[in-house]
Amino acid sequence: MSGGDDLITRGTPDAAVVPGAGHPRAAPGVGHPHPHDSAPAHVSGRALYTDDIPAPRGCLHLAFGLSERARARILSVDLAPVRAMPGVVDVFTAGDLPFANDVSPSGDHEPLLATGEVFFHGQPLFAVVAESHHLARRAARAAAVVYEDLPALLSIDDALAAGSRLEEPIVISRGDWEAGIAAGAHVIEGRLELGGQEHFYLEGQAALALPREDGMHVHSSTQHPSEIQHKVAEALGLPFAAVTVETRRMGGGFGGKESQGNALACAAAVAARRTGRPCRMRYDRDDDMRITGKRHEARIDYRCGFDGEGRITGIRFEQYIRCGWSQDLSLAVADRSVLHADNAYYLPAVQITSERLVTNTVSNTAFRGFGGPQGLVGIERVMDHIAATLRADPLAVRQANLYGGPGRLTTPYLMEVTDNIAPELVATLAERADYHARRAAIEAENAAGPVIRRGIALTPVKFGISFTLTHLNQAGALVHVYTDGSIHLNHGGTEMGQGLNMKVAQVAAEVFGQPVSAVRITPTHTGKVPNTSATAASSGSDLNGMATRAACETIRERLAAFAAERWQVSASEVRFEEGTVRVGSGTVGFAELARAAYQARVQLSATGFYATPRLQWDRRAGRGRPFFYFAYGAAVTEVALDTLTGENRILRTDILHDVGRSLNPAIDIGQIEGGYVQGAGWLMTEELVWDKAGRLTTHAPSTYKIPACSDRPRALTIALWKGDNPEDTIYRSKAVGEPPFMLGTSAFLALSHAVASCGDGTLYPALDAPATPERLLRAVDAQRGRAW
Ligand code: MTE
Ligand code: MOS
Repeated sequence: MSGGDDLITRGTPDAAVVPGAGHPRAAPGVGHPHPHDSAPAHVSGRALYTDDIPAPRGCLHLAFGLSERARARILSVDLAPVRAMPGVVDVFTAGDLPFANDVSPSGDHEPLLATGEVFFHGQPLFAVVAESHHLARRAARAAAVVYEDLPALLSIDDALAAGSRLEEPIVISRGDWEAGIAAGAHVIEGRLELGGQEHFYLEGQAALALPREDGMHVHSSTQHPSEIQHKVAEALGLPFAAVTVETRRMGGGFGGKESQGNALACAAAVAARRTGRPCRMRYDRDDDMRITGKRHEARIDYRCGFDGEGRITGIRFEQYIRCGWSQDLSLAVADRSVLHADNAYYLPAVQITSERLVTNTVSNTAFRGFGGPQGLVGIERVMDHIAATLRADPLAVRQANLYGGPGRLTTPYLMEVTDNIAPELVATLAERADYHARRAAIEAENAAGPVIRRGIALTPVKFGISFTLTHLNQAGALVHVYTDGSIHLNHGGTEMGQGLNMKVAQVAAEVFGQPVSAVRITPTHTGKVPNTSATAASSGSDLNGMATRAACETIRERLAAFAAERWQVSASEVRFEEGTVRVGSGTVGFAELARAAYQARVQLSATGFYATPRLQWDRRAGRGRPFFYFAYGAAVTEVALDTLTGENRILRTDILHDVGRSLNPAIDIGQIEGGYVQGAGWLMTEELVWDKAGRLTTHAPSTYKIPACSDRPRALTIALWKGDNPEDTIYRSKAVGEPPFMLGTSAFLALSHAVASCGDGTLYPALDAPATPERLLRAVDAQRGRAW
């Protein structure tokens, strides 16, 4: 394992990763850079999203009437004007719901429609069912609602003052952290405020409910079809078996479709039951941004002792996580912030406390990294702050603190980091990106006092892979081989653009030795693979790849046993490879073998199942092995900052990321690129602003700035670390969906470097995120002794 010249880089996914490279294979499966199976459909507009499914005859459309208050008692709602609007077929409120009024993913009560009180601005009050989407939306605004305002908690400070929290704070500690801090030659403390983030999936939330003779069939843009199934069944008073949910694809989920689709699916299903007609619902973009949960805002307070080399002796983090008005997935999100407070660094004596605060704002939810990024940026800020204090190179401080060496591999939650490659990976990237020479050149240039300052930073990522709720780490698959040799593949994961379906198809192709084109990817369907977990925690390919391999191997073994008997060879002499089947010294076509096996009454269909081994975790004690393994990466970002306007650009980014043995280098590199850009967007430009009434004022792309093409790094190189996953994962690959998001931290700290160059080194910039031009300008002026 080394990080030498044989790295796979962007633009040239080289053949060296293909198992058996050098012997051109007729049927490359795992390791080959196949393009995303839907790529042509994505770019030509032929890809069908939930709202593109042709409307069945008589289809009706829904819209919610939304609360205009952040917190209030509802004194009366007059829906007569709504019913009188053109095209309106039905209107219903909480009192009209036939069974459960609950869309919570966590068992905690979260009403589909408000009952008596509202808890955030934008909360659904009633649903309108009309002949068209636009008629439904127009009618929803006609209600006359009388509110009695109640005091609303809008900020972290409000919630703290009111003691408004989901549960008692979690505290994880190891060693005597107070003595550790006191033992440091230096002690720093500080506060970092991190903003939330809108998912901005290109396809908004959507559902289509089709009443069927034997129950309800729902198409949903969801990462979690099984939960949609459960929630719809509960809303209709049906057994789970009477509801099926189908998901062909999402136009992006990013965590925002783990739970936030429940409301639309339930409302559409209830409307379909009430009217007997198909019903569909999608949120308009502004409504989507007002109603749905986002990344959790966080405040991180730190106090850290360290020695003259910048090595931490003791540290304390206080994390304050703004959960919004209901529980949703917030406890697990906040747990992951705690579990990533160390990132890639050994903390000899440490305490991390975590407050899960309830406010009258949208209920925050999963978002790529699931709380990990908030925890991770905290320790990266500390590294930067230590370096500034010592006037040392931040990379040297990071390297001094990385996990590694005897006795320096234990996490704060007592899991041993047995797969640590961080030191080697960071050193390799620093060299490849010519970090030291470039930093020296930037410092020299900045010293001359130009208006445009540059900055550079290298930050690593170590991200734990597995759901921290241990039982979720399971998956199933269903595979059929038909008598023409075609392979029908179904698994429990969902496709949201991340390329999961292609990776899993590659696994099936690999097991059967067939080309990927022989494998037919089919929509996720609760009637085919039941009791699934959300496609989340980056574990889609780990879990569903394994389940699929098991199903395919079952069929392959049956075929091999049959062929061995038919042609009188041993089963080991039957090999499925290069698009054909070798039986002893001869060959037989895969289709021919399938046909013959069918005629001999061999079953050509199988299920597969996988449960991740060796996990155990006690969340309140903060002890155990929550993760199967870690994924690693590092990025170097160089920025330019205009010190007169605060405007900035990413000039160059170099990334080295660990995906184990890549299942598909093209897709993996795409995930790394997208994750980095999304992470940088979170920390640089994406700002959510609520006004004093608790109204989200940034509810459209006109006011909420996601990275555009022009914001991408001027130069970007991405290389894959070469090395197998030491754990027995699917073909020794590693999860890739979320970890690269946190590489964007390097852009944030590169801006900090540029800002710091405007001062004399005595004042640490302590930027909050997002580092918008106004925050940057204020920080630059602070460096120059001008406060505003
Ligand atoms: N990539 C694309 N294109 N679209 C997405 O919505 N979601 C991310 C990541 N990459 C996402 C994405 C998130 S939050 C997760 S958890 C993983 O993909 C989920 O898919 P996986 O487990 O198959 O990696
Ligand atoms: Mo991803 S935040 O786990 O859906």
